[in-house]
Amino acid sequence: MYTLKDNNIQRSQWGSKIGFILAAGGSAVGLGNIWKFPYLAGENGGGAFLLVYLVTVAIIGFTLMLAEFTIGRYSQSDAVGAFKKIDKRFGFIGFIGVIASFFIMGFYMIVGGWSLAYIFKAITGAINSTDSIVLSGAFNELVINDIQPIIWGGIYIILNIGIVWSGINKGIEKASKILMPALFVIMIILTFKSLSLEGAMEGVRFFIKPNFSEITPKVILNAAGQAFFSLSLGMACMVTYGSYLSKSENLVKNAIIVPLLDTFVAIMAGFVILPAVFAFGFEAGGGPSLAFVTIPAVFSTMGANIGTIFSTLFFVLLTIAALTSSISMLEIPVAYLIEQRKWTRKKAVLLTSIIVFVMCIFSSLSNGKLSYLTIGGKNLFDFYGYVASNILLPFGGMLISIFVGWILGKKNAINEATNGGTIKFRLAKVWIFLLKYIIPVLILLIFLSGLGFF
Ligand code: PHE
Repeated sequence: MYTLKDNNIQRSQWGSKIGFILAAGGSAVGLGNIWKFPYLAGENGGGAFLLVYLVTVAIIGFTLMLAEFTIGRYSQSDAVGAFKKIDKRFGFIGFIGVIASFFIMGFYMIVGGWSLAYIFKAITGAINSTDSIVLSGAFNELVINDIQPIIWGGIYIILNIGIVWSGINKGIEKASKILMPALFVIMIILTFKSLSLEGAMEGVRFFIKPNFSEITPKVILNAAGQAFFSLSLGMACMVTYGSYLSKSENLVKNAIIVPLLDTFVAIMAGFVILPAVFAFGFEAGGGPSLAFVTIPAVFSTMGANIGTIFSTLFFVLLTIAALTSSISMLEIPVAYLIEQRKWTRKKAVLLTSIIVFVMCIFSSLSNGKLSYLTIGGKNLFDFYGYVASNILLPFGGMLISIFVGWILGKKNAINEATNGGTIKFRLAKVWIFLLKYIIPVLILLIFLSGLGFF
């Protein structure tokens, strides 16, 4: 336990090194990798998208991840408090993160609910087919329904409440420790199965061979936004998680492992889904249905019994991967309400969840009954995601980068990141240089190009 000198709040800490990596990795690895990444790649030119995505992760991923860990552990405070403690004027950066977390939870919990529903569809054999009409039928029937996805989303939210209710090491850390490794194993099995399908190579080519003429401003903005989303960056989520890290942890190492792990899982998901899309003759631009249609098809080629067992297991693990991410989003406003507004954890968890549930009702209905409600041509479900990934997270990331480079400053930042100089970090100066100059400009350029300036 670490006791803050100035306000005497007892803050908890991660129980072990591996506990933190799994929790931060659990936050990063989620629906973003397995559900969203493959369909965005499918919609945005495959290899072109992958290339921009990888470049963004390589330049921005590690630097910002370390920046967020550094702010969090330096100030040992929630999203808003962390910035405020370093400089009173900058609490708003964390507040952008709090707002972003609501936008994300407003659709993420619904997709978590879809995943829960699919566990039961898998058990009953309803999705044991390779026929795209059967599989898209099952998906559409669920998502455009007025009530079902809302009930599943509600159950999914209750699972989140259950974990975050007990706080970080009892709930979040313990859950991640068991669940993350299991997901890894099943993804590897799926990758092999999918790659062995007849016609899979066309999908592999689509996924890894960039067609440079397809790297448009829209693809760049989508890929960069997805990188932020998938790495849980730009919304002070990793600040919040970093704030529970002990002073002896190696931040630099963690900031390398987590993006690598996350990218590895996203690429694996690409190798599961896109080859199967081509092998079965599905539509690569199929949007949010892609994973839910393709993955059951891959399983059904394993025969009725084995297919049913594996696909049930898969959706259990997908739900779990989603859970380890959504609890990290929920923890952002919760930690803020506890530390800045002095609420009890239980009250903070409940109130936040109620707001999220209401937002979820609207986003779910926007896939059906309320589909006429559009903003900029997007229904609410897509709009929440667009605002978060393509606007709030990159913008937040830009501010975080500037904040560490210019406000926290070189000396403090390097001192914190290297545990007072006891950890070797040869690229420390490069890191600060990137944060100060390169990343803010890069993000600005991505924005301007996304908005059609070039
Ligand atoms: N990274 C998570 C995923 O890929 C989503 C997330 C975004 C979690 C932002 C926390 C904060 O599913």
